[in-house]
Amino acid sequence: TEDQFKKVISHAKEYGYIFQSSEIYDGLSAVYDYAQNGVELKKNIRDYWWKAMVQMHENIVGIDAAILMHPTTWKASGHVDAFNDPLIDNKDSKKRYRADVLVEDYCAKIETKIEKEVKKAAKRFGDTFNKEEFLTTNGRVLGYQEKINTILSRLAKSLESEDLADVKTLIEELEIADPLSGSKNWTEVKQFNLMFGTKLGASADTAMDLYLRPETAQGIFVNFLNVQKTGRMKIPFGIAQTGKAFRNEIVARQFIFRMREFEQMEMQFFVKPGTQKEWYEQWKETRLKWHLSLGMGADKYRFHDHEKLAHYADAASDIEFKFPFGFKELEGIHSRTDFDLKAHEEHSGKKLQYFDHEENKSYVPYVVETSIGLDRMFLSVLATSLEEETLENNTTRTVLKLPAVLAPFKAAVLPLVKKDGLPEVARKIVEELKWDFNVFYDEKDAVGKRYRRQDAAGTPFCITVDHDTLENQTVTIRHRDTMEQQRVAIDDLRAIIDKAVNV
Ligand code: GAP
Repeated sequence: TEDQFKKVISHAKEYGYIFQSSEIYDGLSAVYDYAQNGVELKKNIRDYWWKAMVQMHENIVGIDAAILMHPTTWKASGHVDAFNDPLIDNKDSKKRYRADVLVEDYCAKIETKIEKEVKKAAKRFGDTFNKEEFLTTNGRVLGYQEKINTILSRLAKSLESEDLADVKTLIEELEIADPLSGSKNWTEVKQFNLMFGTKLGASADTAMDLYLRPETAQGIFVNFLNVQKTGRMKIPFGIAQTGKAFRNEIVARQFIFRMREFEQMEMQFFVKPGTQKEWYEQWKETRLKWHLSLGMGADKYRFHDHEKLAHYADAASDIEFKFPFGFKELEGIHSRTDFDLKAHEEHSGKKLQYFDHEENKSYVPYVVETSIGLDRMFLSVLATSLEEETLENNTTRTVLKLPAVLAPFKAAVLPLVKKDGLPEVARKIVEELKWDFNVFYDEKDAVGKRYRRQDAAGTPFCITVDHDTLENQTVTIRHRDTMEQQRVAIDDLRAIIDKAVNV
């Protein structure tokens, strides 16, 4: 819900996960900085992905291509001509909107109205209330619902056919139908390219217009043959990469869900033409399993198979995640055919073909791509992990139940008191554990308060050094999620943490 989402955003700041970029200058919209804990969580997600995609696959290797690429790259990929959003301006308010999002927002508003009607009725009818029945028998509510469905399907059609005049008509129709808004004064819908431009070179005459890459994928395509030859790769094989991408997004909202500067984790898998459907199915399954392995709940994920495909794709599906604002795209799996490599062959005049020894012939491989936004993944993990629990004594506890493998700090070491030699023993434990894990030392405030701080920061273990430790070399280890405490030998700490963290 919206409240829950607000809590996530303020928690992210309070516990050093995410700050607004250039905050002292009132920020830059849709640009964010990762703070001391955020940078660790982000790195751990990236590593978790890299391990699963590169380390665990003999036939997938990584690269790190430059953000700046030759400008013809973007002509070949289609981004110069077709990487656009439909925009519309409101002449009265002078505000600019993404036309499709505007329509969706209106529909969401009507959905909210329906929800209100349903709630009112549920109150009125009490136990006998049946939502399905109510919706099918109540003409007014049904009318709303039908209107949304028709408008949304018309919107999808207009966007597909790029008939922008139709989108404007839809907006006007919606406003007339919606008594809250009243009709407004709209401009025509225009296409707006999402790439950020920049210049290479100092002199005005010779400077070259460049773009900041809007996806990492093209750095992989243009290096396909270099990697294949130098790595002696045999098809099927993959190239993986993580790195920044930039899009001049018009609708900048929902925190780090849609950013102007963000990070992608992409893998292009090169296959023999004709086998792409099998690989596409296999990668869908493999990627969903990867998500499920984090244990955030199978009910949080669903596939959304695309019916209408981009001109280069022969199949495409999103893995959607249940964010606090509903199910939204988290990752895309696309069967991209030979579109990109063929386009780069044409524009560069260089062959990008693979010689298949088994078939004894050369061909341009087909590509199945998996593409996930690292920041979006970060948001999915953060939002799902944040819980407010009511304890037995009726107090509340804020706890960030991050999967242990992703937690910024794996353990906090806490001397019970700041005297009697306990800090020294605690420091020694930190010195030993820090070779293997990020560990945190804290001696300020009462130990209960320190536990709560670590709970809220997401640290899976608290290790407490007390007077018994001096006698028998044991400590208490407290588990974040259950608050259970165990007495264990100092010597066993590494193995206990390791078991929880390295799944
Ligand atoms: N190479 C394919 C590609 O870039 P995409 O669907 O445009 O496909 C892939 O992007 C993923 O990148 C998305 O599923 C999303 O997780 C992430 N992403 C895209 N735009 C983003 C933005 N503005 N902010 C954050 N993440 C974004």
